[in-house]
Amino acid sequence: MSSIASCWVKIAAVLLYSYSSRKRKEFRHRHSDRSRWNRKLLRSGIIGEHSYVVPGSTIVDSRSRIGKFCSIAKNVSIGTTMHPVHALTTHPVSYSGEDGDLTIPPENRVNFQNKQPVFIGNDVWIGLNVVIMDGVTIGDGAIIGAGAVVTRDIPPYAIALGIPARVVKYRFDENTIARLLKTRWWDRPPEVIRQLPMGNIPASLEILEKLDS
Ligand SMILES: CC(C)(COP(=O)(O)OP(=O)(O)OC[C@H]1O[C@@H](n2cnc3c(N)ncnc32)[C@H](O)[C@@H]1OP(=O)(O)O)[C@@H](O)C(=O)NCCC(=O)NCCS
Repeated sequence: MSSIASCWVKIAAVLLYSYSSRKRKEFRHRHSDRSRWNRKLLRSGIIGEHSYVVPGSTIVDSRSRIGKFCSIAKNVSIGTTMHPVHALTTHPVSYSGEDGDLTIPPENRVNFQNKQPVFIGNDVWIGLNVVIMDGVTIGDGAIIGAGAVVTRDIPPYAIALGIPARVVKYRFDENTIARLLKTRWWDRPPEVIRQLPMGNIPASLEILEKLDS
């Protein structure tokens, strides 16, 4: 084989190898547990576009809703169930009425909802090992620090930490937050989001507000 021909064979082999390894990587990503579960959550309307929940986390009540562009780390419990605190027993038999050979007659059961949906806005980041109690609402743009236990609603763009989670600061000043909430950038089409300089909030707001004017 001439040296030119062997050079072409080598180039073709390199191109073929890089193409097939890219395809293998794409295949692995599409079929990983992480993306399979998230596609299922997206199809069922529980999470919005571009949001992800790392497997190992749980969404207890399927009526819960998570907006777009949310990042939910591993080991997050969303909508941790409750047991009745003021009944004779906190055991679920107090409201379900059935456990093994024990049946509690309906008139002696307590009326109790053990879970309530959780509502998480858009662009919310929830750190590792967070517990979110049932019925809580977390506003757009909020951050929940690793290890927090969220027992109350968290306002938009707040950074909340600790047990119980307390707001320690906000991501931006009040005026910027109000403007960001008004733009609802997360609902914009990809061609608009692509134009936004992610590190420059005033410039992003200017672009979005100009589009609206
Ligand atoms: C909440 C978080 C974003 C705060 O980041 P930040 O704004 O840069 O805050 P800082 O690092 O400046 O810390 C501010 C204060 O809060 C404390 N703090 C930070 N994270 C904390 C947490 N998760 N719980 C309790 N306190 C925390 C810091 O020690 C510091 O205290 P100090 O002022 O007494 O020194 C970050 O600490 C966090 O928890 N990120 C989640 C990481 C994670 O879970 N990743 C998983 C993969 S997605």
